[in-house]
Amino acid sequence: MTESPRIAVFDAYGTLFDVHAAVSRHADAIGPDAAALSETWRAKQLEYSWVRGLMGCHAPFWGLTEQALDYALARYPEVDRALRPRLLDAYRDLDAYPEVPGTLRALRAAGWRTAILSNGDAAMLERAVGSAGLADHLDAVLSVESARTFKTAPAAYRIATDRFGVGPEAVLFGSSNRWDVAGAAAFGFRPVWVNRRGLPDEYADQPPERVIESLDALL
Ligand code: LAC
Repeated sequence: MTESPRIAVFDAYGTLFDVHAAVSRHADAIGPDAAALSETWRAKQLEYSWVRGLMGCHAPFWGLTEQALDYALARYPEVDRALRPRLLDAYRDLDAYPEVPGTLRALRAAGWRTAILSNGDAAMLERAVGSAGLADHLDAVLSVESARTFKTAPAAYRIATDRFGVGPEAVLFGSSNRWDVAGAAAFGFRPVWVNRRGLPDEYADQPPERVIESLDALL
């Protein structure tokens, strides 16, 4: 019987931080294309990470975030490009979902060790964790930068098992990104899908152990 995991590792963007909060803060100035701009921004940021991972041509996630925004602004030319610096600033200081600080605090109080494992580069994560006030609730903030690849590469997930000196089965991995949950399952983590948006399931051969709607369901 595999012991229950006592290490909880979380994806950052989309799981702990609301990636759409950057556009939401400026929705009035952006206008009717705001939701489409944010979805395109996120989709392209992820696409660039997967393509670069497959190409073996790594680049910092912040640069991919900027390039993805530039694509989204070109795709929606009605949006005022002068908003670019304000949108990037807002992305640096994304809001954490409301239940995140309390859930991390409660997990640690219950004896769990907690961490982030993210495609975000170290500087991005330090800023985001600091501005959301999460630093005191995390034992580690891990960027894939040290592996010079992105999730779903096994080398990216191995950063977490190396940091804690455990096998994959000792790690509960929570992500709102179903593709990330698939990668985590393939690596051997105990994956939990944080399906915040009530999306249909996929990657049937790499299922989560649990599906929750928000992090506090872990308590
Ligand atoms: C991350 C992105 C992929 O934080 O959500 O790794």
